[in-house]
Amino acid sequence: MKTALILGITGQDGSYLAELLLGKGYDVHGVIRRASTFNTVRIDHLYRDPHEQDVRLHLHYGDMTDGSRLLTLVESIQPDEIYNLAAQSHVRVSFDEPTYTGDVTGLGAARVLEAVHMSGLNTRYYQASTSELFGSAAPRQNEETPFQPQSPYAAAKLYSYWMTRLYREGYGLFAVNGILFNHESPRRGETFVTRKITRAVARIKAGLEDYVYMGNLQAKRDWGYAPEYVEGMWRMLQAEEPADYCLATGQAYTVQDFLVAAFEHAGLDWEKHVRFDERYLRPAEVDFLWGDPSKAEAKLNWHSEVTPMQLAAMMVEYDTKALEHHGAHYVDQVPLAWWPYRVEANDD
Ligand code: NAP
Ligand code: GDD
Repeated sequence: MKTALILGITGQDGSYLAELLLGKGYDVHGVIRRASTFNTVRIDHLYRDPHEQDVRLHLHYGDMTDGSRLLTLVESIQPDEIYNLAAQSHVRVSFDEPTYTGDVTGLGAARVLEAVHMSGLNTRYYQASTSELFGSAAPRQNEETPFQPQSPYAAAKLYSYWMTRLYREGYGLFAVNGILFNHESPRRGETFVTRKITRAVARIKAGLEDYVYMGNLQAKRDWGYAPEYVEGMWRMLQAEEPADYCLATGQAYTVQDFLVAAFEHAGLDWEKHVRFDERYLRPAEVDFLWGDPSKAEAKLNWHSEVTPMQLAAMMVEYDTKALEHHGAHYVDQVPLAWWPYRVEANDD
């Protein structure tokens, strides 16, 4: 049985990755932040009382700003694999909190890499790098495209990208960068644009709100489905040699395209309900991200299945059902059809 440590287990990707690894028989350790309210809603369905037999999900308090705690965790857990998904991951917020973002999202990765290096373990390390690194570089982007970051978030991720390469090339660590284009799901954070739209559609349809206020509708993104992307992360750590890979659908749409699809799926006229608010503009925008996943397809046999327009429909369906449950959050049970790798994973 392998042991994995997931930093950022309470996030969108962390929750799907925990499911995937538990399904493959891993012992999964996750780091959560101490908060005055519960912040484990995305993984509560995986949690079992530690007094039960054969519990394979273990949660530990920790923070990416606390290097000594990270070293203690690495040395005591001795993981075969570390997935560093922890970050202040919101681009707009990074303009308000640039140094905090640099500390958590940039230096945080260096703290983990150094902990692995100091421990002397043969731990494989996955770094959650991002298509935001490409910034203003012309599409389509792939592993060879030069980085032109356009936000404090992207600058922090640029640092963690290069630290990952440095520990690979300098110290021989099995350390890889997954350069992932935007990926979404019913578990997406509520202030990212897709989820903001699909929640608004559900609330407008239910008569709870009349309008949603949006920023730049002309930005283009390559939106994929998060469960497929966590499968790609795992495949990167199973490869014979460490290397960096882009994961993307290869299809790009404007924010407006996604918005229209979401409103139409609910039978609503978007023009009656969408208003502009400049507070959602960014000091510098990333206009066009459109990925080329050929390397991951060829070397990892990884393929995306769910299209951006299918995602819009799926997320509207979820948010509509969530409201029917009196607004209470409930975790989506991913239908098998949307989880193409799951059956294969259980057979491993
Ligand atoms: P997310 O939902 O925002 O989750 C971020 C995770 O990091 C949460 O578990 C969060 O904990 C944790 N975290 C934040 N600050 C922390 C700190 N100081 N110490 C410890 N943990 C901390 O992000 P995601 O969408 O799952 O993305 C996962 C990773 O991939 C992120 O690094 C993101 O930047 C990167 N990425 C995402 C995408 C995408 O489209 N989703 C694309 C490319 C790269 P709390 O729950 O307590 O806040
Ligand atoms: N959040 C948000 N809210 N974005 C809006 C809005 C709005 O009201 N209106 C327009 N947008 C535009 C943004 O300006 C941006 O061009 C686009 O919608 C997508 O914004 P987000 O969903 O916030 O995502 P992001 O592309 O900035 O960043 C996400 O993807 C990156 C990978 O490319 C995050 O998940 C990052 O962590 C990730 O690295």
